[in-house]
Amino acid sequence: MRPDSHSVRRDDRAPPRVARAGVAPVARMTDLELGARRTLIRVDLNVPLDDGAVSSDRRIRAALPTIRRACVARARVILLSHLGRPAEGRFDERYSLKPVARRLSELLGREVRVERDWLGGVEVGEGEVVLCENVRFERGESSNDEPLSRRMAALCEVFVMDAFGAAHRAHASTHGVARFAPVACAGPLLSAEIEALSAALDNPPRPLVAIVGGAKVSTKLAVLDNLCGIVDRLIVGGGIANTFIACAGHDVGKSLYEPAFLDEARRLMARMRARGGTTPIPVDVVCAKRCAADAEAAVKPVEEVAVDDVILDLGPRSAARLRGILEEAGAVVWNGPLGVFEFDQFGEGTRVLCEAIAAGDAFSVAGGGDTVAAAEKYGIVERISCVSTGGGAFLEFIEGRKLPAVEILKQRARGDSTTT
Ligand code: 3PG
Repeated sequence: MRPDSHSVRRDDRAPPRVARAGVAPVARMTDLELGARRTLIRVDLNVPLDDGAVSSDRRIRAALPTIRRACVARARVILLSHLGRPAEGRFDERYSLKPVARRLSELLGREVRVERDWLGGVEVGEGEVVLCENVRFERGESSNDEPLSRRMAALCEVFVMDAFGAAHRAHASTHGVARFAPVACAGPLLSAEIEALSAALDNPPRPLVAIVGGAKVSTKLAVLDNLCGIVDRLIVGGGIANTFIACAGHDVGKSLYEPAFLDEARRLMARMRARGGTTPIPVDVVCAKRCAADAEAAVKPVEEVAVDDVILDLGPRSAARLRGILEEAGAVVWNGPLGVFEFDQFGEGTRVLCEAIAAGDAFSVAGGGDTVAAAEKYGIVERISCVSTGGGAFLEFIEGRKLPAVEILKQRARGDSTTT
């Protein structure tokens, strides 16, 4: 996943009210008096770096409102984040958060110090912000080590979990610390993302349309399976669509597809049908003899794909049908582009999808690195109701899985003895 998305809420498409608000049973930072309290905020500042500088600051920008709010309340703000996947147990300059702190300082308009040795305690004044060095340098972070979690918790009076992008990890800084901190609550970004995703999936305005692109059915099977039980239209794209096209009895030439998953594709379509929903399969496609920037594109009906063709996008008739479906949608959940949009001649399907989301009135949520890159390419990021900061976390949520970092906040709110 390209870790570069951030949450955007279009004011004219506020999330529909739902019976089960995603984070209703957790304490929220916005309900607390932070005052001069030592406030440890887990953020997701896992951003891409290029030559030692931040190349996309989306996630840093997404974290700003929460940090600003805590500063305005005169809290003593201590930030925790990971960056990349370094080996635990030692400092590695390549994964240092220093470049992130520089960008954060610019955006906040105040100096953010990076604390290299922070586990023993952090000096921080009222309204000040300190960023602890990469939490994944600490041994025991990914194994959710209890002594490490307790040391993190001892840094603060209030722990705020605001890293939606890391909420699917049961790590010391996302889960363990929340067990032992005096107060553990959800930050505004985490709350907003869970509310938006819950609104789209729990009780959305209908029809609910899901668009799932990507290379393989096998890697998105859990997502497809869960969505099949919820959505009214399931649109598949990319290599996933090729497996569905093959399942409908068409030759897909040399296209990426998974013969071993034809039965799964059939089962998913049958489930949709049984619920009165549909899984529209492309009626035409854009093919080439190879996948390359200079490859020549040819539009073909799906029945005419040749043995040496590679399907790289939806055709115009299929894209027009998709536009019609999206015009009628009440809510849209989108993960994964429909074609190889990086090359313009194979980007039309994804472009039409983006335009239709931008033009429609549906409440829309989107997540995943390629998805956000496509939304950026076609200039519609601001037109999506909620662009998730999560990659893996977004997928796990739409798979219907519980996010450990949210579950522990629920347990704390219920007052359970926090031993799991
Ligand atoms: C992400 O980029 O999806 C999150 O920051 C989580 O990172 P991880 O997959 O390395 O845990």
